[in-house]
Amino acid sequence: MVQLSINGKKVTAEEGEALLKVARREGFVIPTLCYHELLGSSGRCRLCVVEVNDAGKKRVVASCLYPAKENIEVFTDSDEVRLVRRTVLELLLARNPSAELIQHLAKQHGVTEVRYTPDQDKGKCILCNLCVRCCKDIVGVSALGMSGKGPMKKVGPPFDEPSETCIGCGACVVICPTGHIAMEEEKGVRTVWQKKFELAACPKCKRYHLPLFQLEWISKTRNIPVEELMVCEDCR
Ligand code: SF4
Ligand code: SF4
Ligand code: FES
Repeated sequence: MVQLSINGKKVTAEEGEALLKVARREGFVIPTLCYHELLGSSGRCRLCVVEVNDAGKKRVVASCLYPAKENIEVFTDSDEVRLVRRTVLELLLARNPSAELIQHLAKQHGVTEVRYTPDQDKGKCILCNLCVRCCKDIVGVSALGMSGKGPMKKVGPPFDEPSETCIGCGACVVICPTGHIAMEEEKGVRTVWQKKFELAACPKCKRYHLPLFQLEWISKTRNIPVEELMVCEDCR
C-alpha cells in the first residue's frame, strides 16, 4: 500500500492502482468518457486529467492510466487541469456538436465558444472505443472495429456492412456514452448496425425479448438448450 494526497487529503491506495479509481473511492469527482468499470482504461479521451506533483515534478496526466505512488500529490481541479479539460471538450464539441452529453459537459466546464474548425462532423460518436471493447471483451464477439485514419476515422462493423458475427445483443448500444448507436425494434425485428434480427417470442407470455441469433449463440457457447433460453427472464 502507498500513501498519497488528493487535493490535500491523505489517502491510502494499492501501489499501481489507477488514480481515477483512488480519487473516486475517496469521493472526488473526475469526469471520464472512455473509462468503464467493466473494461478499465484505454486513455483515449483525456478528459480524466489530474495534476500530479511527484517529488517537485509537476505533470498533467490521465488519471485512468496513472498509477498511485508513494507521496505524490494529486490535484483534480487545478487551473492546469481545468484548462486541459476545457480544451478536450472544446475539440469534442467542434467534432460532435449534436452530442448532448458533450454539450452538457462543455457547459458544465465553462466552454462557451469553439475556436477549432472541425475536421469532420462525427455525429455523436466521440471515438471512445467503448463499443468496440465491449463487443470484444464483454460479449466476446468482435463485430466492431475502428477504421480509417485521422479525420476519416470511424467505428462500425467491417466495410460498414451488416456484420456476420454481430448477434444483435445491444450491449454496444447500452455502453455508448453519447447514444450514437441506433437500435430499433418493430414488429418483432431488432435493427442494429444495419443488421436485422428476428426476436424470439417467449412461449409463456408471448412477449418478444432477445434476438433468436443471440439465443442460438448463447446456446452454442454455453451449452444451454435453446428451448430453455426461449423463455424470457420474467417467466423463468
Ligand atoms: S449488438 Fe452486435 S456489435 Fe453490438 S455488442 Fe452486440 S454483437 Fe457486438
Ligand atoms: S459509437 Fe459510441 S461507444 Fe462507440 S466509439 Fe462512438 S461514442 Fe464510443
Ligand atoms: S477516461 Fe481517462 S483517458 Fe478517457
